[in-house]
Amino acid sequence: MQTGSQNTNTGLVQPEAASPAPFRFFMPTELYFGPGQVQRVGEVARKFGTRALFVTGRRAMRESGILDRVLGHLRDAGVETVVFDRVTPNPLSTTVDEGAALARERRCDLVIGLGGGSAIDAAKGMAVAATNPGGIWHYSPLGDRAVPQQALPIVAVATTAGTGTEVDRYAVITNPATREKPGFAMEWMQPRAAIVDPELMLGVPPRTTAATGLDVLFHSVEAYLHRSASPASDLAASQAIRLVARWLPEAYRKGDNLEARYWMAWASTLAGVAINTAGTVLIHAMEHPLSGHYGVVHAEGLAALSQAVLEYDLPAARERLADVAAFLGAPQRDAEQALERIRQLRQAVELDVRLRDLGAREEDIPALAADCLRTMGGGVQANPRPADAAAIEEIYRRAL
Ligand SMILES: [Fe+2]
Repeated sequence: MQTGSQNTNTGLVQPEAASPAPFRFFMPTELYFGPGQVQRVGEVARKFGTRALFVTGRRAMRESGILDRVLGHLRDAGVETVVFDRVTPNPLSTTVDEGAALARERRCDLVIGLGGGSAIDAAKGMAVAATNPGGIWHYSPLGDRAVPQQALPIVAVATTAGTGTEVDRYAVITNPATREKPGFAMEWMQPRAAIVDPELMLGVPPRTTAATGLDVLFHSVEAYLHRSASPASDLAASQAIRLVARWLPEAYRKGDNLEARYWMAWASTLAGVAINTAGTVLIHAMEHPLSGHYGVVHAEGLAALSQAVLEYDLPAARERLADVAAFLGAPQRDAEQALERIRQLRQAVELDVRLRDLGAREEDIPALAADCLRTMGGGVQANPRPADAAAIEEIYRRAL
């Protein structure tokens, strides 16, 4: 649904439905939000099971002491844990299958993911693969497209303000054999409960704060531009955009500012709600092949693509981008101002990068465009301006 908007000089934007289209709002995750909420992980997990496959990355959670704290809370609540700590960034289908096998072998009755998007997405994949035959790729939108019949309940503990995966039904999983990195979307992957505790984010390094914060920005901007944007997704997306504009530079400069971490965590959660209700469009669709081919950090790829994609979208999304400009605090409600404000945000967090800085090569562009259409076709189709292979190749070239 495309909508027109009115503006006042106060920056208050009132989206106005062009046609009163129906929509579905799906947000069944029980959310525990705020400083100190991680202490409730045991009590929360206990609602769903007593032996958890506990999924996290190799180092950061252990080194920060967060892993031991969380395991201690679980032990105190009588939840046994089987730790799987081998998740890498851009998690692999093979890793998901290993974790799933461990869950089956040890008869786990729930899965807990602790970390950023990679750990939680891997946990989601394991919850499905542990209880259905054939390995996770069997259920991939690019594989056999099998439909799972069940999953273990999932509890997500987010430690970055980034993906919003703790409140959505998506998991992004890479096949190491084909380098394809599709988004899985299934209701079985929706966490039963999520804990978002900004105190866990105080120690996130600046570069990760910047990247994950821009991921929040693009989730919310893309949800706002999505062809199925609705009053429900707009509500979440617009507020997330405002919060990123206000708090991301502060969280980047002063990582120990709890107020900045709090509002960025809430922006991330809202952006997760926005993409669970609408979805992402062309920036995300074009980024996944970059992570798949070059192992690019997801949000650095988004940052590198964003200007060229939004310039492409501009003629088809003037009204919506003008709203975005207002959410970002631009002096005029003007679509070009949205692009300018987003550029300023990239600069404020020192991620105003180009694709070549991330290792992308001109000769790979046709393959990247083909991958984008094959693996992320849904996001392309939902884009406000239609894009074919030639258009996508041209955008990659402009972003190079
Ligand atoms: Fe993302």
